[in-house]
Amino acid sequence: MTEETQAPTPDDAVIGLPEPPALGASALPAGTYAGTTVFVTGGGTGLGKAIATEFGRLGADLVIASRKEDHLKAAREALEETGARVRTVACDIREPEQIAAAFDAAEEAFGLPGVLINNAAANFPVPAEDMSPNAWRTVVDITLNGTYFCAREFARRHLAAGAPGSIVNIGASYAWTGGPGFAHSAAAKAGVKNMVETLAVEWGPYGIQINGLVPGLFPHEDMTADIKGNLAGTHDKDPCQPAMRVGRLRELGWAATFLASPYARFVSGHTMVVDGANWQRRGLVNPPVVTVRRQMGKEPFEMP
Ligand code: HXC
Ligand code: NAP
Repeated sequence: MTEETQAPTPDDAVIGLPEPPALGASALPAGTYAGTTVFVTGGGTGLGKAIATEFGRLGADLVIASRKEDHLKAAREALEETGARVRTVACDIREPEQIAAAFDAAEEAFGLPGVLINNAAANFPVPAEDMSPNAWRTVVDITLNGTYFCAREFARRHLAAGAPGSIVNIGASYAWTGGPGFAHSAAAKAGVKNMVETLAVEWGPYGIQINGLVPGLFPHEDMTADIKGNLAGTHDKDPCQPAMRVGRLRELGWAATFLASPYARFVSGHTMVVDGANWQRRGLVNPPVVTVRRQMGKEPFEMP
């Protein structure tokens, strides 16, 4: 165990934040989303799938949009188990025409989506000085531009139809703090958070509510090898969180279903953090600085 990950001194009062209710429980009434189409980007893996699951349990018709057929297949298999009707559609959110086609498919299957969950994102750890221009562009293009393109498509259709709707943008807490080793993703997520604040004002008059939802550390089996490597030894991370545990996927799903529900209609332009207060854990004295290169086991930088 390194100095940074040392377990706290034994203290009998340390119990951590309690475990949430079991998977399958819900704070919202059964059928809250009956008759509502919920469009989830990146809903075939990880957090997107967990969020879609909770909407499915509450009666939603689900549309899952992402690039890879194996992810879409996984979405169909997992989500149909909730009893939901599921439509999957191949879509790269960097391409506005593909987004428009995906919304056409959604409307044809179940009607105009009433909820958009902007969950898809791209990320890999890389020292900023090593990052290629195309690596930067790719992450910003998916995470920031793609999120906006989806929100735009949703809003245009709602304005044309005169129908209210709700958008939830999935963010990350390094939008506020910066994210050493993730300069591209942190900058993109800062844009995503800022976009929530602008669009909530622009589109509120048309009945469109938009909020941000920030997960803390939510490890899952679909995480990319790069991210898994970066979080190696996930279970050792429990004592590094003020909650003394990481997030349970259903906890994020519950937050998303609340934010998009009729019970949160007056909440708009807000970004909610679900991380057991981990992002606020700053002291006057912090662990010793280890460069991103060293954290990643890289040699000193040399100009190629
Ligand atoms: C450095 C990398 C890289 C890496 C890709 N690139 N991976 N550079 N380190 N590990 C560079 C490539 O060399 C290339 O630049 C450019 O990025 C584009 O790569 P492609 O493979 O052509 O892109 P593409 O096929 O479009 O794939 C996008 C991707 C990929 C982002 C690279 O990883 C992906 O599809 N990710 C989707 C899933 C994902 O990222 N999930 C993480 C979400 S988790 P050059 O210059 O060579 O052309 C999250 C928060 C987690 O966001 C927070 C945890 C604490
Ligand atoms: P993940 O499993 O890697 O999910 C990313 C999803 O985005 C995948 O389903 C992927 O599907 C989709 N996607 C990527 N690029 C796309 C594109 N160009 N077009 C369409 N879909 C695309 O990661 P995750 O952990 O569940 O992350 C979900 C969200 O939570 C992200 O916004 C992430 O930033 C945020 N987050 C996660 C954590 C965490 O601890 N897990 C922490 C903070 C923030 P395809 O490959 O099929 O396209």
